[in-house]
Amino acid sequence: MSVDPNRLDTLLKEDRKFAPSEAFRAQANFNDPDIYDKALADPEAYWAEQAQNLSWFKPWTKVLEWNPPHAKWFVDAKLNAAYNAVDRHRQGPRKNKAAIIWEGEPGDSKVFTYDMLGREVDKAAHVLTSLGVKRGDRVTIYLPMIPELPISMLACAKIGAIHSVVFGGFAAASLRDRILDADSNIVITADGGWRRGGVVPLKNNTDEAVEGTSVDTVVVVPRVGKAAGAQMVDGRDHDWNELMAKASTAPFPAAEMDAEDILYLLYTSGTTGKPKGIVHTTGGYMVGVNTSMRSVFDLKEDDIHFCSADIGWVTGHTYIVYGPLSAGATTVMYEGAPDFPDRDRFWSIIEKYGATIFYTAPTSIRTFMKWGPQHVEKHDLSSLRLLGTVGEPINPEAWMWYHVHVGKEQCPVVDTWWQTETGCAMIAPLPGITETKPGSATRPLPGIAVDVVDENGDSVGAGNGGYLVIKKPWPSMLRTVWGDDERFQNTYFGKFDGTYLPGDGAHLDDDSYIWILGRIDDVINVSGHRIGTMEVESALVGHQAVAEAAVIGRSHDVKGQAITAFVTVKEGATADDALAAELKQHVAAAIGAMARPEEIIFTAELPKTRSAKIMRRLLRDIAEGRVIGDTTTLADASVVEELKKLYKD
Ligand code: PRX
Repeated sequence: MSVDPNRLDTLLKEDRKFAPSEAFRAQANFNDPDIYDKALADPEAYWAEQAQNLSWFKPWTKVLEWNPPHAKWFVDAKLNAAYNAVDRHRQGPRKNKAAIIWEGEPGDSKVFTYDMLGREVDKAAHVLTSLGVKRGDRVTIYLPMIPELPISMLACAKIGAIHSVVFGGFAAASLRDRILDADSNIVITADGGWRRGGVVPLKNNTDEAVEGTSVDTVVVVPRVGKAAGAQMVDGRDHDWNELMAKASTAPFPAAEMDAEDILYLLYTSGTTGKPKGIVHTTGGYMVGVNTSMRSVFDLKEDDIHFCSADIGWVTGHTYIVYGPLSAGATTVMYEGAPDFPDRDRFWSIIEKYGATIFYTAPTSIRTFMKWGPQHVEKHDLSSLRLLGTVGEPINPEAWMWYHVHVGKEQCPVVDTWWQTETGCAMIAPLPGITETKPGSATRPLPGIAVDVVDENGDSVGAGNGGYLVIKKPWPSMLRTVWGDDERFQNTYFGKFDGTYLPGDGAHLDDDSYIWILGRIDDVINVSGHRIGTMEVESALVGHQAVAEAAVIGRSHDVKGQAITAFVTVKEGATADDALAAELKQHVAAAIGAMARPEEIIFTAELPKTRSAKIMRRLLRDIAEGRVIGDTTTLADASVVEELKKLYKD
């Protein structure tokens, strides 16, 4: 396991506890502590009860069919995700309630009531249908954080088409890989996106990405105008606004989807260079996300939910779009950077819209800490009643800063552990029940069977660490990897039969609280973004000057982890600062800016085992300045000394 040894040290010294206040407990949706035992005794009954919060066209005949590792939830039931997220709220008192409050980076803003959102989604569904999109087709969506993004997703869901959202920070080559893997022939994009006042050339990237693929239709949302330098291709490209203006205004009938029909694909990094298309289906996913909105976020009718993630990641899918909307709440989406134009942008958004729930990543909190509390203190944040974090382990200092400066010691903090694969939060406090400890995601949610086990799959018990596992299926679990069920089986169920392996290491404290230690595989978590070391390595060796590359994540006080690349160059190439800068840029252009290495270390050789495997753990020890442990399996021990010296320099 290559988890961060410093983290364990810190956690073992942490003994602060925060019990829910009596006032919060009294009003909480979930405030009966027996819920854990009840759900554990009969998880299917628990989930069936939670499922009553959705609208089903046809009920299930069976809650769960489990043929490990394949699960079917809510067998034979029919529903539609967009109907649940939008249409059902148009019929009652929520009709004119704000569904989406959107704030653009330049300061423009829009509010969509449920009724307005429903009309937009229906028009978009007509548009997509007229372009030939049918049930089951994969629609690639490569958009900035603008309202057309959730509208496109919901339009797909309404038709029964499968959306595959690609984060706008990905480069053309990454977009192309995802289009090809999903076998998608339509892309919805924008001319460009705003980022810190600059333009992200989404349309130009799309042009490059679709070349030679089977994409024959590109829909372009105008967002930044001329500055994007976008050109329309005749016969292939369509202007979103023109199509929407012409679209039928008739209600679009929601497709009656089977609970197990696919709702979306979302690509995520793994241990190989090729990203995995995580498959989420309709019924189970919607039950999971809707339940966690009410349990973990204690969502109420009047809540204004502000999740600062990008919808290009699962956090945005679940806690900006499907979660809050399925629960009929108001969701806030913000287009741009937290420091544009100033470092108080998030706090100004919370104040402006009266956000009651705020959900962000530890890396952002550490950045806010660095910027100082004066930016927070400029704003009235008294509307806030609950805070959440996600994406990476949170250090107790960041947790406390969040609690004190943002929550004014009045708001429960929910540290939520989950993954693209799990669909919704799995380990998190129930804010009206669970005593929290800064740095711990606390305990599994009701109905979720989490354990920490050793190499043989045996529980390690309180006070010990090991592999985090999930022993029973849950409704919003991934169903497979798109086009590669074998990879699904091997990656997640190959190590412990019938038990899901998330790929994280964890420690159980004396109260059996879970402390996530980090990834145990070759995946790096940079600012909450999951990046495969292999993806970065293959980008590096794709450069003409590079012979070999080994990439590791070293701990970083703001980003959580930062990418360090050890590189050997080909004969004739000069390993200098100019090449290092060029290689960093090369990786950013191949994958996306979030994968840009923090540092490139040139070396004559990489440390390898006698079977020629690169010893990444050793590289990480070097980068983090730890004493080198056992190097007896090294083919050439002098390489290490040389590297240590280089790194110090
Ligand atoms: O290592 C865990 C970390 O993020 C990984 C999942 O990444 P992704 O699929 O991109 O989804 C991120 C947002 C749900 C996990 O395997 N992770 C996520 N949340 C936490 C976390 N690590 C510690 N604590 C968390 N709360």
